[in-house]
Amino acid sequence: MVMKKGTEIKPAAGKLGVLLPGLGAVATTVIAGVEAARRGLARPIGSLTQLGTIRLGKRTENRTPKITEFVPLTPLSDLEFGAWDIFPDDAYEAAEHAGVLSREHLEMVRPFLSTIRPMPGVFEPQWVKKLHGTHVKTGRSKMELAEQLIADIAQFKKDRGLSRCVAVWCGSTEVYQKPAPCHATLADFEAGLARSDENIAPSAIYAYACLKSGIPYANGAPNLSVDFPAMFELAKKAHLPIAGKDFKTGQTWMKTIVAPGLKARCLGLQGWYSTNILGNRDGEVLDDPDSFKTKEMSKLGALEYILQPHLYPDLYKEFHHVVRINYYPPRGDNKEGWDNIDIFGWMGYPMQIKVDFLCRDSILAAPIVLDLALFLDLAQRAGMHGIQEWLSFYFKTPMTAPSLYPEHDLFIQLMKLKNTLRYLRGEELITHLGAEYYD
Ligand SMILES: NC(=O)c1ccc[n+]([C@@H]2O[C@H](COP(=O)([O-])OP(=O)(O)OC[C@H]3O[C@@H](n4cnc5c(N)ncnc54)[C@H](O)[C@@H]3O)[C@@H](O)[C@H]2O)c1
Repeated sequence: MVMKKGTEIKPAAGKLGVLLPGLGAVATTVIAGVEAARRGLARPIGSLTQLGTIRLGKRTENRTPKITEFVPLTPLSDLEFGAWDIFPDDAYEAAEHAGVLSREHLEMVRPFLSTIRPMPGVFEPQWVKKLHGTHVKTGRSKMELAEQLIADIAQFKKDRGLSRCVAVWCGSTEVYQKPAPCHATLADFEAGLARSDENIAPSAIYAYACLKSGIPYANGAPNLSVDFPAMFELAKKAHLPIAGKDFKTGQTWMKTIVAPGLKARCLGLQGWYSTNILGNRDGEVLDDPDSFKTKEMSKLGALEYILQPHLYPDLYKEFHHVVRINYYPPRGDNKEGWDNIDIFGWMGYPMQIKVDFLCRDSILAAPIVLDLALFLDLAQRAGMHGIQEWLSFYFKTPMTAPSLYPEHDLFIQLMKLKNTLRYLRGEELITHLGAEYYD
């Protein structure tokens, strides 16, 4: 896509539907938080779209508007939520089960959460072995299931009087999968849907249905979902933005902060051992080795890309990188992530960094879902389509065009995101070049 500087952006007129396949811990936490923010009961902390600012022009100009004032984002009051799940619990029941929010917070938004009832999901147990869904669609082929999702979307838009929608996958992590022949082209994929090709996972059926319905799609899990050539082709053809994959929340977020710091100082790395305990349903799903493999692949990539061992063989040629996730029910959603980082400095002297992050998974993920929904909608109104690399900031495994490598460094990602917004509004990009040296 060739983006024009100072692009015309259609106004955010009317209501925006946010469709969430998967109404679990993350989805219910974002819905509850948005409703609480709308009613002035809580602040949307962690959301760049709601709280972030953007510097414009030279530092002497003192122009630093809030992002919400700078680009025409849909206000929270205009968001409507819809979801699919393989269990029939409404958003209040699902949030209660997830155990992320306190009873006090849940009761405050209970009337709203209770109105959000999931539509039956598209599911095949072999893709998420730990779950046995009961609220599922049936059909003669995967194409028929896709058509049912398309009908759900049309009904949702009509019932809520929406002007447009976006979708963010918040469903479980599916088993590890490499692209198969059915993922190659749109024609191959559609033929695969018609013959119910075993290589087509439910998440890819949602992605297809959303794109066919003219809806931008982001993938919060590490599954393929929208990350294969047939979906790139469909997104291009339908002029739709897509993004993924796997929300960057706890340990990987920390990694993409610390690793650029090590590289910036040319400090070496001998090994990085990461382990987690978590006890929510996501943790239970990841207890299955095949689902864990998908997550492991997603978590392992960041360091290699940031540290660039091929360019820095003295520092990063042979570091050991291990990632473990252990399902430990007493912790619920309150994950603990430990990192032991063995580094070396001047003349090779070893040092260690220990990080013990007592985080809350869904509390970190919820603002990401909100930002992705609002930015994808903005992208669509600005005529941007295909893979939105400027949203890499939000993902553990940023999707890129096939010939490019992903950018993992959080600070480069943030600069790219903000420069994209500046470019859209016809503002100068910020390079941090000190022009005063040349006056
Ligand atoms: N919480 C985080 O910090 C974080 C970070 C990165 C990625 N993620 C990913 O986000 C996703 C959601 O996380 P969560 O903590 O909310 O998990 P969760 O288990 O609480 O929720 C997932 C929901 O998806 C539903 N589901 C599974 N397959 C489905 C299908 N085919 N159709 C519709 N619904 C389906 C499940 O029933 C469940 O309610 C997971 O894939 C997780 O790996 C979460």
